[in-house]
Amino acid sequence: MAADGADTVTAGDPLIELRDVNKHYGTLHVLRDIDLTVGRGEVVVVIGPSGSGKSTLCRAINRLETIESGTITVDGKPLPEEGRALARLRADVGMVFQSFNLFAHKTVLENVSLAPVKVRGRKKEDAERRARELLDRVGLAAQAPKYPAQLSGGQQQRVAIARALAMDPKVMLFDEPTSALDPEMINEVLEVMRRLARDGMTMVVVTHEMGFARSAANRVVFMDGGRILEDRAPEAFFTAPESDRAKDFLSKILKH
Ligand SMILES: Nc1ncnc2c1ncn2[C@@H]1O[C@H](COP(=O)(O)OP(=O)(O)OP(=O)(O)O)[C@@H](O)[C@H]1O
Ligand SMILES: [Mg+2]
Repeated sequence: MAADGADTVTAGDPLIELRDVNKHYGTLHVLRDIDLTVGRGEVVVVIGPSGSGKSTLCRAINRLETIESGTITVDGKPLPEEGRALARLRADVGMVFQSFNLFAHKTVLENVSLAPVKVRGRKKEDAERRARELLDRVGLAAQAPKYPAQLSGGQQQRVAIARALAMDPKVMLFDEPTSALDPEMINEVLEVMRRLARDGMTMVVVTHEMGFARSAANRVVFMDGGRILEDRAPEAFFTAPESDRAKDFLSKILKH
């Protein structure tokens, strides 16, 4: 569901909830009293200066990082500590990073179909059929037999998206998915993400692509110093940021 310009968007049916979440790295307070709700089908873009805690926030949501206090629930359930429940959570929360981390010695088709067999217990033929559908969806049907090194950066990132989707996640987290790409490849990846958003996927996206935020996000969350300073509809945020930090940040990134 794309943003329709409405200024409010608190969802009735929360899929991810963070309440009073805190985390330190040594003396550095990286997440401070974070409260965030992401509704089913909602697209939330997270922006903010380097070091503000955006990646840590994403990583906490699928428990790649632990938190010290507060609660995080996904689909009403608190994050599991370990074991099979944690593996299931990771499968429910797809994650796409700046670096694609594809298996170099597996084909594109294998990269997308292996985890569903191992983690979800699917049959190989079913997983491969589904992988081909997903590769088609990200515009890469013809690349299935190739190896990652034979693809462009934009194509590899689209494989990484297909790989995450193959687990049938309830939510997709993207941490600067286009920031390692050459400019001409950024759009093909954003287009795949826009389509996912339109198809109703719940998404949390760390990005500095303001065009994407304006066209696809329901809300923009601005972080600084480990805090959420603003959580608003994109138009409201971009045209009238409330905090001086956000004004300063926007003036810098919109200029370059
Ligand atoms: N494993 C770690 N150990 C110690 N400090 C860390 C660790 N990971 C991150 N930090 C610090 O925590 C703060 C928040 O980091 P984080 O990666 O979440 O920021 P970010 O907003 O994603 O920044 P960027 O825009 O540069 O990606 C930074 O000051 C960073 O140096
Ligand atoms: Mg980061």
